[in-house]
This record gives sequence, C-alpha cells and structure tokens, in this order.
Amino acid sequence: MRVTLVWAMAESAGQKLAQQLKAIVGNNGWISDPTELAPHLTEWRDRVRGNALLMVSPNTVDQVAAVVRACADAEVVVVAQGGNTGMCAGAVPDESGEQVLLNLGRLNRIRQVDPLDYSMVVEAGCILADVQAEAQRNGRLFPLSLGGEGSCQIGGNVSTNAGGINVLRYGTMRDLVLGLEVVLADGSVWNGLKSLRKDTAGYDLKQLFIGSEGTLGVITAATLKLFPRPGEITSAMLAVRTATDAVRLLAEMRERLPDRIQAFELIGERAMCYVLEHIPATRLPFAQHSPWYVLIDLDLAGGVDQLAGLLEPLSDRGLVADAVVAKNNAEREALWRLRHSISEAERHEGGGIKHDISVPVGALHEFLVCAEQSLARQVPVAIPVVFGHVGDGNLHYNVHLPENVPNADRGGLSAQVTESIYQLVKRMGGSISAEHGIGVLKRDALEQFSDPQDLRLMRAVKKALDPQDILNRGKVI
Ligand code: FAD
Ligand code: MLT
Ligand code: ZN
Repeated sequence: MRVTLVWAMAESAGQKLAQQLKAIVGNNGWISDPTELAPHLTEWRDRVRGNALLMVSPNTVDQVAAVVRACADAEVVVVAQGGNTGMCAGAVPDESGEQVLLNLGRLNRIRQVDPLDYSMVVEAGCILADVQAEAQRNGRLFPLSLGGEGSCQIGGNVSTNAGGINVLRYGTMRDLVLGLEVVLADGSVWNGLKSLRKDTAGYDLKQLFIGSEGTLGVITAATLKLFPRPGEITSAMLAVRTATDAVRLLAEMRERLPDRIQAFELIGERAMCYVLEHIPATRLPFAQHSPWYVLIDLDLAGGVDQLAGLLEPLSDRGLVADAVVAKNNAEREALWRLRHSISEAERHEGGGIKHDISVPVGALHEFLVCAEQSLARQVPVAIPVVFGHVGDGNLHYNVHLPENVPNADRGGLSAQVTESIYQLVKRMGGSISAEHGIGVLKRDALEQFSDPQDLRLMRAVKKALDPQDILNRGKVI
C-alpha cells in the first residue's frame, strides 16, 4: 500500500514537470511518443538503452534556461543530447524513465560570421557539416572534420572535445573554441561568447565546459576559430610495412613540409579488409595488400608532382612500399571513403571492443608490439582491428572476438582484453580516452586508471558547478 502511494506521488510530480516543460517549449518542442523517442534512447552502436520522462527540444536560449531551471526546482536530471553520434553513451538517459532528455537540435542558428576576425558564432544544435559549409561560403575554413560530421552537432563536439582527422594541423575542439554561452545547473545563463585570442583575466572558464560531456552545463552557443582556406589539398594513400615506418614517415614529412600536413591517418590491414568486405563501392587502391596504410592530406602548392618528388627518396629508403596519389576529387573521395567507413564496417562484424587510447607518438610502435603480445598471452582469440590518428598518438585499438566464442564467455573476455590494454596504456603514460570521452561506458575505467588527485579535483569542480547533481548524473564521474 505504502509503495503504491509513493509511486503515485512520484508519478504525479513527473507529470506535473512534464506539463510545465511542454508549456515552456510549445507544441513542436517535445516528444513523448515511444516510437519517435526510440532512436534518442540508445546510442550509435545500441550498446546502452535508456528511457525518458520526456524529450524537449527548445529553440531559444531562454527556453533552454527555463527547462533547466524547472528541472532543478523539481530535482530532476537533465541529459543534453546533440546528434547522438557519441561513442560512450553520454547522451543516453538512464533506465528509470525519470530523466528529461534535452535535445539541442532546434537551437541551430548561425548567429554571426566575421571573416575579418576569423571567427563565427553558432548555436549548439548546428550540424558540423553545415558550419564547415558556412565558413567556406565566407571564404574561411572551420577545420574540425570527422566521420560523423553530417549528423553531429557543435554542442556535442564542444562537450566531447572532439578531435578527428585535422588535429595535427589545427588542434582539437579545445583549440578551436574562442568563447561559449552556457546554461548553468541553476538555469542561469553564462555569457562567455568572446572572440579574443588573448585573455588572461582570471581562469579560462570555457575550458571547464569543453569536454565535460553535459555534466557541468548545457552549451547553447560557441564562438569558433576560423582559418584561411588551404590551397588545393593533395590526397595520397601509402602502403607501409610497420607502424614505426608510419611514425618515421610523419616525422620526415613534417620536417620537409612544416604545417602543410592536414591529415595523416593510419589504417591497419584488418580494418581495411572489413571495409572492402562490407562497404559497397570500395576497392583497394593497390595491387597487393599491406600490413598498414597511411592516408594523407597535404596542402601543397605543387600538388601531385611535388608529392611524387617528396615520396621518391622515402620510397628508395624503404619507408614507403607503395603509393597512390588522387588525381581528382572523385579519387580523393574514394580514398577517404575507405577511412571514414571503418566504424560502419566494424558494425557489420558485430562491433568490436572499443579502445580510444593515446600514447606519446614516439611510443606507438612499442604500444602496438606490447599490446599484441599481451593479448596473445591473455586472450589468444582476440583480433585487433587498429586504425587512427598517428600524428596525435591516438589509436582506435579495437578488438573483435570470433563468432564462435559463446555468448556466456564474451563479457569476461571483453573485460580481460580491456584491462590488459588499459594497463599497458597506463604504464606508457597514455590516456584511456583520447577523443570520445567517458560517458557511461568508460566511467569505471576512469575511476580505475586515473590519479586519485585528478578524480578529487574533478569531483570538486562538479560539486561547485552542479551541487544538486542534476546535469547528466552518472556520466563521467
Ligand atoms: P552527442 O552524442 O549527442 O553527445 C555527446 C556528449 O555530449 C553527451 O555526453 C551529451 O550529453 C553531451 N552534449 C551534447 N550536446 C551538448 C550540449 N549542447 N551541451 C552540453 N552537453 C552536450 N569523434 C571524434 O572526436 N573524432 C572522430 O574522428 C570521430 N569519428 C566518428 C565517426 C563516426 C562514424 C561516428 C558515428 C562518430 C565519430 N566520433 C568521432 C564521435 C562523435 O561524432 C563525436 O564525439 C561528436 O563530437 C559527438 O557530437 P554529437 O552532437 O553527436 O553529441
Ligand atoms: C574515427 O576516427 O573514425 C572515429 O573516432 C570513430 C571510431 O572510433 O569508431
Ligand atoms: Zn577517431
């Protein structure tokens, strides 16, 4: 009897809040229908499923603030969601059905582009590809680029400190954000939309919110740093024998072409084979397979000829086993399709155990050798599928288990694989999360592999900014 009563009271408090939120966002601003909600309640790989009291999609900052304030008053958790392309289930509410999903997709205006200042102000719900296109229309470059760019949103990119393929030249989101506008946990708005390149007046508050995965504030807009558009980009795929050759190659090319290397991506043979097998209209651009491939984008005045001249001596020294240079845009896109399709191809293989790690660039080879040895010893059936951003020391060291491994054994083996890789990363002074963040999937690992002092400081920041713990509770820490 008592249990029923408590449940009835909780239900009516939830329903009361839902009515309040619907009134704030208006008729087109909310969803409660289970079929329409479903894609918002799971993540890209369907590893985690949640539930929600309601999904609201405000289209003004005032509405976002009012939603957060109402939730704070009701002590109900708010989960911010952008394009929901994140890899760690950070944008998925828990299973209780009591949390409010705050989708930023309708807050999507480009507020201002200032080519003279090399900056633009965009709202959180702008799709990354649209932001790139708007910068381009204004004769400028916004350089963040990643496989999910057709659906991920700027708010999500800021909140995960997204990296992608151009970090080598332009940095991560941390380097690309000049200012932020954020709705805080009490529903007040912090206006930090500056576009200053130099500002030493106190703490750099925007950096607290970058990479905070919706746990410290809801980002509503960002001032982004723009760059001159590069000249013609020359793309090439190189076959190399070892990952060390790839690292050496990068070092030599950086010396010869300072600041001209836009992207330098590594693809392991197994990742390439998955793409060729599962993704339509792809083909290996070489006559023979190779243990490793490198895909590069260069900002070169002399294009194909200059690149050929550059590669010749490297090839003579055995650093490059084979090379193809894209002669036109169609060939360039075909090469990049191979790289950007890896995650999709892995899904066709049942999805791997993801490890988005970084180690010092010079230690990549040692990491690969040790990881392979330790897996062979501890989980001999494990199949590493490796690709990533060499210049950033960031590898996607994913591990697949063969189909014939019984379901009952998969959980235990996966845990063993991850433990072995993260222990190695820790020993080598690396990070267990280089670009995808923590979300829920890596929360225990963060706890296990972080310095206790780091965790203490993180908790202190969380407590200071969100004392009620209503922003994305249960994520990150
Ligand atoms: P979501 O998935 O919706 O959210 C991610 C996190 O941010 C959640 O914790 C959420 O609560 C929070 N959040 C979202 N919006 C806000 C907001 N406005 N305010 C506060 N918190 C918010 N990532 C890389 O870094 N590099 C890559 O190369 C890369 N490649 C990818 C390739 C593919 C094919 C896919 C599917 C994903 C890839 N990702 C990559 C991961 C993903 O695209 C990025 O993490 C992206 O930045 C997430 O943006 P989103 O809008 O989808 O965020
Ligand atoms: C990538 O670099 O392609 C991504 O970060 C996606 C992934 O790890 O699956
Ligand atoms: Zn990546």
